[in-house]
This record gives sequence, C-alpha cells and structure tokens, in this order.
Amino acid sequence: MALEAEPLHPLFGARLKGVNLRDALTDGEVAEIVAALDRFAVCAVGHDRPLSNEDLIAFAARLGPMDAGRSPKITGTGIRIPHNEITDQSNLDQDGAIYAEGDRRLLFKRANRLWHTDMSFRQVRATYSLLASHEIPPTGGNTEFADMRAAYDALDDAMKKRIEGLVAEHCYWHSRSLGGGPDPTDEERAGRPPAYHRLVHVHPGSGRKVLYIASHIAGIPGWPDDEARALIEELTAFATRPEFVFSYEWSVGDVVIWDNLATMHRATPFDDTRYKRDMRRATCRETPVHS
Ligand SMILES: [Fe+2]
Repeated sequence: MALEAEPLHPLFGARLKGVNLRDALTDGEVAEIVAALDRFAVCAVGHDRPLSNEDLIAFAARLGPMDAGRSPKITGTGIRIPHNEITDQSNLDQDGAIYAEGDRRLLFKRANRLWHTDMSFRQVRATYSLLASHEIPPTGGNTEFADMRAAYDALDDAMKKRIEGLVAEHCYWHSRSLGGGPDPTDEERAGRPPAYHRLVHVHPGSGRKVLYIASHIAGIPGWPDDEARALIEELTAFATRPEFVFSYEWSVGDVVIWDNLATMHRATPFDDTRYKRDMRRATCRETPVHS
C-alpha cells in the first residue's frame, strides 16, 4: 500500500489515496492510517461503490474496540440496519422510506446540525467515527469539521487557565432539546444518562491538548447554569471560527473517519423530507463496553 495524504485544509483533514478499506490490510497498513489520523484528525477514503455493512464493521474493528450496543430505540420505531455495530444516520425508516415530517427520529436527528463530538454523552467516549456514504442528496448535506487541537492552541492564556481542570456534564437529551426535538419519554431518557468529562484533555495519539466540548454539554457541576452556558457558547463560537473549519462534500462510496477526541463536527441542512441521505456509522470506543 502506498498511502498518500492529500490535505483538505491548512490545519487538518486529508483525503487518503492508495488505500481501499475493503482490502485485508496488514497491521502495518492500519498503523499508517492511524498515524494519518493522529496528524490530520479527519481522513476521507473514496471507493467506487459503498462499503457493505460487513466491510465497514471489519475495518472499524481494526481501529479499536467497537461500539456494539444498539442505540436505544426511539419509542415506537423499528430498525433498518440489522447490525448492532452500525448507527443508522439516514433519514430513512425501517422500510427505507423517507421519514414523514414530524417523525420523532427526524426531529431528534436534526440536532446533528449542532456542533458536537460523537458519544461525549457516554462515560467511555467515542474515539473514531467511520461514516460510510450510500446515498446522498443532490444538494446540501455536507459535514463540517472543526480542529479542536488548533482551537485549544489559539485560546489566550487566561482562558486556558480558566478551563484547565474543569469538568462538564454531557447529556444526549440536552442537544436534542437545543436542536428543537421533542421531550424524551422516560424510557428514552433512562437509556442515555449524562456523562462527565474534562473540558481539556491530552490527545493520546498526538500528545496535543484538545478542547473537548459539544452541544451535548448541559452544564458544569457546581456552576450556575447561565455562567456555564455562557462559557460553553463562547468556547464553541471560538473553536468554530472559519479558520478552524472545513466543509466536506460527500460522494457515494466515501468513508470519512474522524477522531472524536480531536475534532467537532456538524451536519449541514438538506431537504430531508424530499431526498434520501443514507449514511451509516461505525464507532470505536476508548475501551470495550458491553451494554
Ligand atoms: Fe455526529
């Protein structure tokens, strides 16, 4: 494998050439991809056709322990993709039809348009997300990424000092509510309790300090809500300034791998009651989780 990384932005992001994620890669080849991820944080790999669910799972398993707990169901809905390791990020119901306007799943998924990092609402965080593109709308539906290492580096010393050691509460239902979603049922709420993480951590692969924030942050324990909210809003606005962000335009067959411990991302709008957008995500975790 002659891996070539073509940068997508001056700070981060690359398109990897010379690799097909369907191939049986050697440990050395996987290590090259991990090294590219440590450097670029977001890596896109194109393919002539979408990866099968099985191929996506097989490659993701090479990058660490996989999330294999089916997302708690939204009350009253079925499942389209019968693999516990895959999160369905489409706007399609269990029969492959576009959700009707007002469908709870659609309303909750629109929260993905807020800046976030995947699964920060879990105590065992997500490391890599691997999103495979199967069908895309004719316009819209890009994914935007922000480099949270560069954003941390650019904070002034007073802010770095202020946030060092602070812990935030991350809650899935907080971002759903910010995104305009309906109130969760008791069963939905119980399926995703909050988690607590430091605002600044050292990235294990690169040794760089990272600002770890997301729209999932509901508060900072011990702080009044308005002060916590103001700080998180200020940090989010800073970290998503144009110089730290690029927008990825999808092609069918792409797999984009991003490091949730080094970036934030958000979906951009498209006409989601008219066009299909079929994206399927495999996710790796910091340590094995059996739930
Ligand atoms: Fe996400």
